[in-house]
Amino acid sequence: MKFFVDTADLAEIEEAASWGALAGVTTNPSLYARIGGKLADFPTHIQRICELTNGPVSAEATGEARADIIREGRELAALAPNVVVKVPTTIEGLAATRTLADEGIPVNMTLCFTVPQALLAARAGARYVSPFVGRFDDIAEDGIEQLSYIVSALSNYDFSSSGVLGPDGKRQSIEVIAASIRSVQHVTQAALLGADIATVPFNVLKKCVEHPLTTNGLAAFQKDWEKVTKA
Ligand code: E4P
Repeated sequence: MKFFVDTADLAEIEEAASWGALAGVTTNPSLYARIGGKLADFPTHIQRICELTNGPVSAEATGEARADIIREGRELAALAPNVVVKVPTTIEGLAATRTLADEGIPVNMTLCFTVPQALLAARAGARYVSPFVGRFDDIAEDGIEQLSYIVSALSNYDFSSSGVLGPDGKRQSIEVIAASIRSVQHVTQAALLGADIATVPFNVLKKCVEHPLTTNGLAAFQKDWEKVTKA
């Protein structure tokens, strides 16, 4: 499973990228609002994230009609070669995804909650689909169970003929991004059930590295090494 960081905060992205294990970034309108982002700065902000990231960067189209999503998607894709256009899993979003995918613009279909939504996203040419785990938990449903259904259903079929047109003229199959991740346990479970990617908030990503036995073990090794160096 690959790790994306789910944030629009440049400092967090720079820090996470410096660890050498980051494969991409996802943003959304709420994450951009959270850092106090202004509309006029949005294009340059996305370009800066793309420079910091050696991998795909999802930037969300906010229009609801297919024509608006397509126009925004083209504008976002022109910002940097590693932009992925985030599109909601709606009828208008599916139609826009088909058009963008046929133009070679990769789409991440977001706000996906069900197997039929994910299958339709794949058939419409989405490069990624993002089932939201935590938001299912928020309404007392089991988000990880729903994610497992989506991963399992997609693995039953070959979507290579319907995917986004790649630079080599071949179509690319869909990958599942476990999104709305709230805990280390979500990350573990997403990996065990075979999600291709987890997009993880920075604070949870840090917790993924940390373990008390690692911290305590390191402290003990350093204490013992002091004895060696002082002997
Ligand atoms: C990622 O693509 C989503 O926008 C994000 O994971 C949503 O997470 P949330 O449910 O914690 O807002």
